[in-house]
Amino acid sequence: MVRIIDWDAQFSVGIKEIDEQHQVLVEILDDLYNAMLKAKGKEVAQETLDRLFAYTRSHFATEERLFKKYCYPEEQEHKAEHDGMLNRLNKFQRDFKDGKLISVDLMLFLKEWFVNHLQTTDHRYIDFFREKGVADLP
Ligand SMILES: [Fe+2]
Ligand SMILES: [Fe+2]
Repeated sequence: MVRIIDWDAQFSVGIKEIDEQHQVLVEILDDLYNAMLKAKGKEVAQETLDRLFAYTRSHFATEERLFKKYCYPEEQEHKAEHDGMLNRLNKFQRDFKDGKLISVDLMLFLKEWFVNHLQTTDHRYIDFFREKGVADLP
């Protein structure tokens, strides 16, 4: 199994539920990458792409629920990034159904988006949630 992203302790946002979801997302991206490398066939790639879409959507919903609950001031900008990604994932799914293969470019895009969103946009809420007592790490 080749990893496209190595989980790093630096990725932690200090909220257990969110960290666990981020790790699952990394695993799904690894699965998709491996499906691509091994040319595992359309069904495996389709299943993995569907899993990525569903899990990403539910992860974004978890973060957005916390934003609403605690009136996070950057909720709108953050949600706009999530919505942009869901639109792109939707498009990838459609392209795939139309016969386009999962490419290295797509994998690099997903990896870069994920790592960048995690390390900048998600990390922006760490201090806020820590002050609210939501974060469960020091
Ligand atoms: Fe996130
Ligand atoms: Fe996020």
